[in-house]
Order: sequence, then structure tokens, then C-alpha cells
Amino acid sequence: MMEPPCKFETRDKLMTEIGPCMQAPHNKISVVGVGQVGMACAYTVMLQGVASEICLVDVIKDKLHGEMMDLQHGQAFLKNVTVKASTDYCVTAGSAICIVTAGARQRDGESRLDLVQKNVEIFKHIIPNLVKYSPDCILLIISNPVDILTYVAWKLSGLPHHRVMGSGTMLDSSRFRFLMSQKLGIAAQSCHGWIIGEHGDSSVPVWSGVNIAGVHLRSLNPSLGKDDDPENWKQVHQEVVQSAYQIIKLKGYTSWAIGLMVSTICQAILKNTRNVYALSTLVQGYHGVDREIYLSLPVVIGEGGITHVMCQTLSKEEEKQLQESGRMLSSVIETIKW
Ligand SMILES: NC(=O)c1ccc[n+]([C@@H]2O[C@H](COP(=O)([O-])OP(=O)(O)OC[C@H]3O[C@@H](n4cnc5c(N)ncnc54)[C@H](O)[C@@H]3O)[C@@H](O)[C@H]2O)c1
Repeated sequence: MMEPPCKFETRDKLMTEIGPCMQAPHNKISVVGVGQVGMACAYTVMLQGVASEICLVDVIKDKLHGEMMDLQHGQAFLKNVTVKASTDYCVTAGSAICIVTAGARQRDGESRLDLVQKNVEIFKHIIPNLVKYSPDCILLIISNPVDILTYVAWKLSGLPHHRVMGSGTMLDSSRFRFLMSQKLGIAAQSCHGWIIGEHGDSSVPVWSGVNIAGVHLRSLNPSLGKDDDPENWKQVHQEVVQSAYQIIKLKGYTSWAIGLMVSTICQAILKNTRNVYALSTLVQGYHGVDREIYLSLPVVIGEGGITHVMCQTLSKEEEKQLQESGRMLSSVIETIKW
């Protein structure tokens, strides 16, 4: 009888094995949903060398396989990263971070809140499966409406709340800083401004804290962000709120900025950088919010997830707006069919 051919003959001639090479992956990141947002996240994470292994999960098998191959074929130009994909959640086992972008996206003219029940149904399947295979993971929710779905993910996961976060108003804050940079002719990275509350129509711009190099713009223009402001800075926040609608109208979805943002959050977690970002977290007890809801506040993140919530000094008006945002989201949560 013929000997079966040695599977690794050339490889074995090329090098001598002196230790096992199959080790548990470090810095494994799973992305559920390989649509426009999921792939922008996976691509940026890969490009920036954030993870040693990226796993993709979706319900559309062919697309999943195609996206996996497309990422794998870029390996020769990057630091080595393993890319896997499957419709079976066992592929996600041992992930440090699970990013959820699955779900219906906003259509032209549709608000984020219109998506609630559709995406809750999808989450009932996704979240328990992720936690089953990666009980120590940090869940990062992107799907909209992100504040409500992060709350839903927290409830469905049984994880402590500091390990379940939503991308929240980090994107709104970055849009704000970009528009501020255009108005002042200063790099966005040097423009400091925070949008907190809901990632959506009721987001709250913290005008009292807007500054460049510690110079508060309100000390130069006391009407900053108010109705009687001759420079109409309020328009900057209105443009932030309209941004997603405008991009969706123009190109059908948003992707690049959210991809960059998600990769930044993942780096902060995996490298324990302790950066401060506006992320969706459990806000009950902060700034007079008395309901069990998720909204964005500036938080410190590191390898354990969210370690601290910043005690921002908000004006009475800003606190009032945050509480109003909370009441509105709470009324939506009450309509969820669990
Ligand atoms: N938080 C933010 O700042 C932000 C920004 C942009 C988009 N989003 C949200 O991200 C989500 C995705 O947007 P998109 O443009 O990528 O949408 P998309 O339609 O391109 O992709 C969604 C993907 O989810 C998959 N999916 C659906 N049900 C699934 C399930 N049960 N399990 C696994 N995968 C499933 C679909 O097959 C699809 O590939 C939307 O909810 C959108 O509103 C959030």
C-alpha cells in the first residue's frame, strides 16, 4: 500500500519545529455584522495592527467568506493578523473585545429610534452567543439606536456594566471637533469639545467646556451656543445632529469615521491607555439622571473596560437637557418587547 503523502513535506524541509506554534490568540477581536460599518471597523483594526486575530460573524455566508478572503489577501502589506469568519459563534471563542454592528441600518429619513424592536430581536440571538464563547470579553455596541441597544446588550449579557459599552457620542464629539476646526482654522485634535447624552437627535453639546489650549470660548463669547449668539455656534451642533442623515442621503450609510473610532477604542482597551472618550454607559445617578439607562458621558477606558466616569462640571441647562434625553430614552425602553 502506498504511503499517504506528507502534508507538510516542503514546510518540514524548510524549517525544524522545536516548539508548539498553536497558542491562544492574544488581542482577539470579533466583529458581528459584516456590513458597511462592520467591515470599516475590521479593516481599520487590521490596518492599525490593533489585534492579533480578527473574527467576522454574519448570517450571510457568502458575503462573510468574501470579506474574510479580501482582508486576508492584504496580509502581505501589513503586520501579520489572523482573519477568520463563520456563521457559527464558536469562531469568536476567547475574544477580548466583541464588536456588534449587526442589524438594520437607518434608511433615508428614518431616525435611529425607528430601528429599536427590529434590532432587539437580532440582539436576543447575538449577545448570549458572544458571552457563551467569550465570558471575559468587553462588549462594544455600535448598532443603532446605540444607547438603547447597549442597555439591551447589558441586560441580555449578564456582564457587569463596566464591560458593556456603546460607541455613543464619541462620533458626535469627533464631528463637533472637526466642524469647530473648520470654523477656527485649528486642527481637530487641538479643538476640545464634548457632545454627551444620546447618540442622536437629543444629544447635548457641552458649550461650557468648549476650549482651545484651556481658553474657554464662552469666556470670549458668553453667548456661545445660545440663541442670541451673533456667530451662530449653535449651528455647529445642529450640523452634528444632521451629519448622519446627510451622509446617509448622499452615500447610503456612514462607515469610515466610525471605523477609525472603533479601532481607537479597541487600542485604548487592549493597550490599557486610559484615554477619556464619550461612550455610552450606565448613567443612573449622574447629573440628576434617576433612571436605569445608557447615555454617553466622558469615561476612562482601559483593559477592564470603563473604569471611571468623569465628573464633568455641567451648567444647569446642560444637566436639564441630559435629564430630558434620559426621560425620552427611558420611555422608548419601556416599549421594548423582551
Ligand atoms: N453608533 C454609531 O455611531 C453608528 C454609526 C454608523 C452606523 N451605525 C449602525 O450600525 C449598524 C450597521 O450599519 P451598516 O451600515 O453596516 O448596515 P448593513 O446593512 O450594511 O450591515 C448590517 C449587517 O448585519 C448583518 N446581520 C443582520 N442580522 C444579523 C444577525 N442576526 N447576526 C449577524 N449579522 C446580522 C447583515 O447581514 C449585514 O451584513 C446599523 O444599526 C447602523 O445604524 C452606528
